[in-house]
Amino acid sequence: MDFKLTEEHIMIRDAARDFAKSELWPGVIERDEKQIFPAAQVKKMGELGFLGMMASPEYGGGGMDTVSYVLAMEEISKIDASASVVMSVNNSLVCWGLDTFANKEQKEKYLSKLTTGEKLGAFCLSEPEAGSDATSQKTTAIDKGDHYVLNGTKNWITNGNSADFYLVIAQTHAEKRHHGLNAFIVEKSWKGFEVGPKEQKMGIRGSDTHSLIFNDVIVPKENRIGEDGFGFQFAMKTLSGGRIGIAAQALGIAGGAYNLAREYSKVRKTFGTEICNHQAIAFKLADMYVSIEAARHMVMKAAWDKDNDGDYVLTGAMAKLYASQVAMDVAVEAVQIHGGNGYVKDYHVERYMRDAKITQIYEGTSEIQKIVISRTILK
Ligand code: CAA
Repeated sequence: MDFKLTEEHIMIRDAARDFAKSELWPGVIERDEKQIFPAAQVKKMGELGFLGMMASPEYGGGGMDTVSYVLAMEEISKIDASASVVMSVNNSLVCWGLDTFANKEQKEKYLSKLTTGEKLGAFCLSEPEAGSDATSQKTTAIDKGDHYVLNGTKNWITNGNSADFYLVIAQTHAEKRHHGLNAFIVEKSWKGFEVGPKEQKMGIRGSDTHSLIFNDVIVPKENRIGEDGFGFQFAMKTLSGGRIGIAAQALGIAGGAYNLAREYSKVRKTFGTEICNHQAIAFKLADMYVSIEAARHMVMKAAWDKDNDGDYVLTGAMAKLYASQVAMDVAVEAVQIHGGNGYVKDYHVERYMRDAKITQIYEGTSEIQKIVISRTILK
């Protein structure tokens, strides 16, 4: 077994770490407080190649492996989980989905703009009544010969307003249930497409989450991804990889909160000594460190499985389930170690605690991961 990162992996990780510290750390509290989308920072991420890391170089992508991607995700998430969710959706749901399943014309027209950050993408599966139960899609795409007519509403869509291109799952043949679904590339400027109000969120407040409304939107047939009826498979396969990215995000949130707590414990004094000298604090830090390392092994294994034809549907679900729990637990402990200061915005850790929660909810709740895991182990 070789647990060593390659020189290239280390270079990518360090580049992401430097970028996060120099470009994302400044202003992160203000962006969180005022729900400001990190537009300039996302643009820079595109220029540095962080938005299409795994996509084919012929379409502007980095052609990198999943291990590189999760290393970068972890570093960006240590500083700003709002920026990393933008990166995650664009990389693992939108670019990977198109790179793997779209045809040449679609890749030339859309993917090549998404990998460079010239345009941003969103992935639209969830609906008011189809969040976890993804087969129950109500959005319809009626086949009219050379085009489809799209009607319906999507909810909780990351990059909802800032995206330019949207991958939308919709029902074409209701009688076929999930076998009747299709995935489409929809452009923001098309008639009948409306961005709904922005959600007022607990965490990842710098990312923009919206509902989207499709009102008789005409979608050319050439914008369907794959064969007729491929939509559910497309969504499931894409989300399976996406979950590894969110697991890496959770790992980064845990690491960021841990780093702040460790440093704070070395300067804050009580009872005549730095608090890290009290076992009550030192043991907390030890537990946090161990759980983060365990999560890192799971995230890396899932990424490695994806790169090496392993069962990453299973290991990705396991990594997301575990790392998101670690993110939550570590962030809560980081607040505790900070005491009263932990409850104050200036010390950052309360933001990590709020951001951590979403990793147990989006791209499949923890309960969905348990469905995926239990079905596999009971097969
Ligand atoms: N890869 C490929 N195919 C898969 C699959 C996977 N990971 N998981 C299921 N499938 C296939 C099955 O093989 C089956 O195919 P057949 O009917 O041809 O045999 C089909 O899909 C249906 O599978 P199930 O019977 O298992 O379906 P189910 O209704 O029981 O649900 C589920 C399975 C895993 C719970 C699924 O519904 C699920 O993942 N739900 C969560 C969805 C989710 O993550 N939503 C959040 C999206 S994020 C978003 O939209 C917002 C954003 O900004 C990113």
